[in-house]
Amino acid sequence: MACRSFLLCLLALLCQTFVVAAQDGKDKAAPCPACHGADGNSIAPIWPNLAGQHVQYLTAQLAAFKSGARQDPSMTPMAMPLSDADMQEISAYYSSSQPAINSMDVSQAAAGAAIYRGGNPASGVPACMACHGPDGSGNGLAYYPALRGQNAEYVVKQLRDYRDRNRTTDGNETMQTIAQRMTVEEMESVARYMSALH
Ligand code: HEC
Ligand code: HEC
Repeated sequence: MACRSFLLCLLALLCQTFVVAAQDGKDKAAPCPACHGADGNSIAPIWPNLAGQHVQYLTAQLAAFKSGARQDPSMTPMAMPLSDADMQEISAYYSSSQPAINSMDVSQAAAGAAIYRGGNPASGVPACMACHGPDGSGNGLAYYPALRGQNAEYVVKQLRDYRDRNRTTDGNETMQTIAQRMTVEEMESVARYMSALH
């Protein structure tokens, strides 16, 4: 089919390239659904949802698992064989997937909502929404991960890992400092709230 204008041709070519890249990502992601689910919404609460997460963040975490900067016995071997291009393609695939949100009524998580939206001034915990966004969608360019709909059990494990310095992927220790100021009850209630946030 002849293209009617140069612009239309360019558009068709760009769309095609995008579809091919997303399809490649899906193929390379063949081992991932066993834990993260076919569409990036995990099948057990200890595994993070990847659906709708920002490409920049997903790519950086995969690179961190591969380099050993972030460690996990189930995840490290998964990242080892991936090239930079594989990481980009897989991340683009999951990022374009729809995140599943916990259907719990957020009004049942008032204590968590208070921390997410206002922090805890007495202990110096900042409002999470200042970086992760009022609706938990984060900010890809600023490297703030999305947290809406994330599994509460996974989130609590991350906060404990930051607190204990088992996770140090936050270059300037932002999350380590915040987690060290939080009680376990605060971690659990904010995680419950975020699982239903959207
Ligand atoms: C055997 C289970 C398992 C498989 C298979 C698996 N993962 Fe994971 N993945 C995990 C666990 C567990 C974590 C969380 C580790 C932790 O607690 O820090 C994780 C974390 C991640 C994260 C970080 C998410 C975040 O929010 O920080 C990314 C990205 C990821 N996995 C991508 C992948 C990709 C891509 C594949 C396939 C190539 C894959 N995983 C296969 C178990 C798995
Ligand atoms: C100043 C900005 C900032 C604030 C405020 C902030 N965060 Fe974060 N958060 C980040 C950044 C940046 C990362 C990514 C760090 C990394 O790569 O490990 C992150 C990562 C996380 C993660 C890991 C996400 C994942 O998928 O593994 C969790 C959980 C989290 N933050 C929870 C919170 C909670 C709860 C609060 C409020 C009590 C909060 N954050 C406040 C900047 C912030």
